[in-house]
Amino acid sequence: MMKPQSKPVALLILALSGWTLDARALDALPDRPPVPKDNKMTPAKIELGKQLFFEKRLSHTSEVSCNSCHDVTGSGTDNQPFSTGIKGQKGGRNSPTVWNAAFMGVQFWDGRAASLEEQAKGPMINPLEMGMPSHDEVVKRLSDIPEYRKRFTQVFGKNSLNIDNVARALAAYERTLITPNSPYDQFLKGNFKAMSPNALSGLKLVQTVGCTACHFGATFNGPQRSGTGFYQKFPLIPGSEYEKKYKLTEDAGRFNATKNELDRGMWRVPTWRNVALTAPYFHNGSVPTLDEAVRVMAKTQLGKGLTEEQVRDIVAFLKSLTGERPKQTVPAPL
Ligand code: HEC
Ligand code: HEC
Repeated sequence: MMKPQSKPVALLILALSGWTLDARALDALPDRPPVPKDNKMTPAKIELGKQLFFEKRLSHTSEVSCNSCHDVTGSGTDNQPFSTGIKGQKGGRNSPTVWNAAFMGVQFWDGRAASLEEQAKGPMINPLEMGMPSHDEVVKRLSDIPEYRKRFTQVFGKNSLNIDNVARALAAYERTLITPNSPYDQFLKGNFKAMSPNALSGLKLVQTVGCTACHFGATFNGPQRSGTGFYQKFPLIPGSEYEKKYKLTEDAGRFNATKNELDRGMWRVPTWRNVALTAPYFHNGSVPTLDEAVRVMAKTQLGKGLTEEQVRDIVAFLKSLTGERPKQTVPAPL
């Protein structure tokens, strides 16, 4: 077991070695995500949510489940630039990981959903994703399966099979998808051998180069208060060679959700947790590797070019943020 006072010890050692610390960037991942009062987590609810997460009948053609685009036996994404929904259709955004989504103040690249519960209702009726004609149709389909009727009654009470409870169960399951104990977390808790010298150099670099102006906090995406997003412009510094190459300005970002001119090109700052697993990168999945994503960020957000050694060390640091993923087994269909 880790001693609770060990984080200050880690900080002290870093301070003694001559660092100017940005303490905001040095928080271990909390053991538990925030849970809304009206959606307490219970084992039966989590189990039902997991069943629904893998349920292909939530899609019109029974081809895709949530897991098709967010593979929780792996990275929590599909590792494709754009996801494939029913009838082979491609959407226009990269699938973010569901691992640790429970810590995000808002959901989606543009933050347009305020909670996991709200988010979960979207894909089922998105024509390019699961393509159901309506939430009523989703409920009707599940109600035709006796085992689901029984499970909803057990978890939520009589006549409780409705879309809000479908979303609640999915969200309760997603709140179990957290990845503690990355090498970085172990380091903060006092295991100083958990991070390699390159990774430690990378930790220092993300602070000195300026990445942690935006990527700070336990999940490295700024303050995360439930329902409140932390957005930044991307690309912040226009005109780099990457803008055209990776089509970085074609999608107007948060403007699409709010129609507010000030939101054009604004994006939620994404987490660095497990980012080494979730290639390709950015909202349009246009950048295939993590080292290239780091170069793009340094140039577009900070106007800086990095040496190859710096890129290597920052990537080593980002890799130290890969946590332990509780093993997920695919449930048998009901
Ligand atoms: C066809 C692929 C596809 C399916 C099916 C799908 N998703 Fe997604 N999911 C995406 C994409 C793409 C995004 C990002 C969209 C955006 O930001 O505009 C996303 C975003 C999310 C997010 C937000 C994560 C974050 O960090 O912002 C969560 C959570 C999520 N999906 C959960 C689910 C659940 C639960 C289901 C099943 C009900 C589901 N998804 C079905 C592709 C899919
Ligand atoms: C001014 C704010 C800002 C700064 C500074 C910044 N970033 Fe980002 N970062 C963002 C935003 C916003 C995005 C999301 C871009 C998008 O929508 O595709 C992002 C995305 C990323 C991604 C891709 C994540 C994913 O899941 O695809 C990585 C990796 C990343 N940043 C690393 C860095 C590194 C390393 C630095 C320093 C060299 C840095 N960032 C500096 C705001 C910033």
